[in-house]
Amino acid sequence: MAAVVIVGMQFGDEGKGKITDYLSERADMVVRYQGGSNAGHTVVVGGEEYRLHLIPSGILTPGKICVIANGVVIDPAVLISEIDGLASRGHDVSGLRISPAAHVLMPYHRRLDEMEEEARGANRIGTTRRGVGPAYVDKYSRSGIRIADLMDEASFKRRLEVVLEEKNTLLRRLYGDDGFRFGEVCEQYLGYARRLRPYVADTVPIVNEAVRSGKRVLFEGAQGTFLDVDHGTYPYVTSSSPTAGGACVGAGVGPTVIDKVLGAVKAYTSRVGSGPFPTELTDEMGSRIRDKGKEYGTTTGRPRRIGWLDAVMLRRAAVVNGVTALAVTKMDTLAGIGTVKICTGYRTPWGTTTDFPATPDDLASCEPVYEEMEGWRDEEIASASSFETLPTAVRRYVSRVEELVGARVVLLSVGRDRSRTLCLEDVF
Ligand code: GDP
Ligand code: IMO
Ligand code: MG
Repeated sequence: MAAVVIVGMQFGDEGKGKITDYLSERADMVVRYQGGSNAGHTVVVGGEEYRLHLIPSGILTPGKICVIANGVVIDPAVLISEIDGLASRGHDVSGLRISPAAHVLMPYHRRLDEMEEEARGANRIGTTRRGVGPAYVDKYSRSGIRIADLMDEASFKRRLEVVLEEKNTLLRRLYGDDGFRFGEVCEQYLGYARRLRPYVADTVPIVNEAVRSGKRVLFEGAQGTFLDVDHGTYPYVTSSSPTAGGACVGAGVGPTVIDKVLGAVKAYTSRVGSGPFPTELTDEMGSRIRDKGKEYGTTTGRPRRIGWLDAVMLRRAAVVNGVTALAVTKMDTLAGIGTVKICTGYRTPWGTTTDFPATPDDLASCEPVYEEMEGWRDEEIASASSFETLPTAVRRYVSRVEELVGARVVLLSVGRDRSRTLCLEDVF
């Protein structure tokens, strides 16, 4: 049995897509369990770049079943363009399965995301404006429309009629927006329904049967631990549970099914949007790493905020996710910048600590305590073909991360392309 959850240990964009793609060759199934098209997973295979938002990164490996499970909110327009984009590049998407219990992202969700962000002014969260937050609000307030409803014209019309009236009233009265016309939304979405119908299937038995019969199943998280609605830097978070527990609820598997949790860690830290970030670099070094690592959002193109690796946060993430091993990415990006730093503790108004603070406000008042480490050069990492051939400074950095976080590094990513991944230990 091998059910492995791949989870972001920081603020998202750790390279989960790349890791998932790399592991897919040895997996049978890849399952997305939460989030929506706020996620952007870039995968590079043989120099070809793919940007995925909803379809699991396993789709680039032929013959894999790729599940969009109940916990995801689906923008049908984005999903269809992803399906078409992959097909036009010669990829077989027949392995895609969509849960009828997944929620549908509607045009008013996008509009509300924009309006709400504008209204927040200086307190804005910096959402991706993809409508994902408002779609989850509707899910929990029980006014959402699910894929199952979309597949049944009568049910869809019935639900849309009620919900649209409410949303239009909200948009008009609160934001002075025109709202949406029932006929237009209906026609557009029933068109989407026709396109998506072939892929819809109850994914709970599909996933559980795969696990039961000993298949290798990867659960691909979106976002990251500190964007989790419970465990992140609230309110500067996303509206779902990217942490490993989210895989159980979001895919309909019991906790006893999960064998391993692989924490994806970028060799430094990045964040898009607002919120506390103790190791943030607002100086020249931050810009240098941003440019070298091409740290611009996959979904929105926004420049990502950059900082040194924060081991205090990683330790917290390891606990919250029950992490059993680590995959460290972008080691090549840190090359050629001289001495590198790792945050090992925080100076707070109450003294120095290695514990993660209880509230985001406390986190915002933390000053990082750094440990400096010898850096490495581009040529040294470009030529490495195994862990043993990596420069000593890289191996020291990896060992220090293992020590500080308390988990083994089993995968090391040393370049964008799938081929630039070093496997230190078997993940499954
Ligand atoms: P995700 O959201 O966690 O899947 O991460 P993203 O795809 O949004 O962001 C990670 C970015 O770093 C992407 O552009 C990847 O192609 C790239 N990337 C991943 N691993 C590496 C690596 O080891 N080296 C370099 N240079 N780029 C990487
Ligand atoms: P992947 O899967 C990085 C951030 C947004 C914002 C906050 C809330 O690529 O790692 P939302 O649109 O979710 O309501 O925005 O969360 N955010 C991400 N940051 N990577 C992501 O996904 C993100 N998805 C959302 O920037 O700060
Ligand atoms: Mg991303």
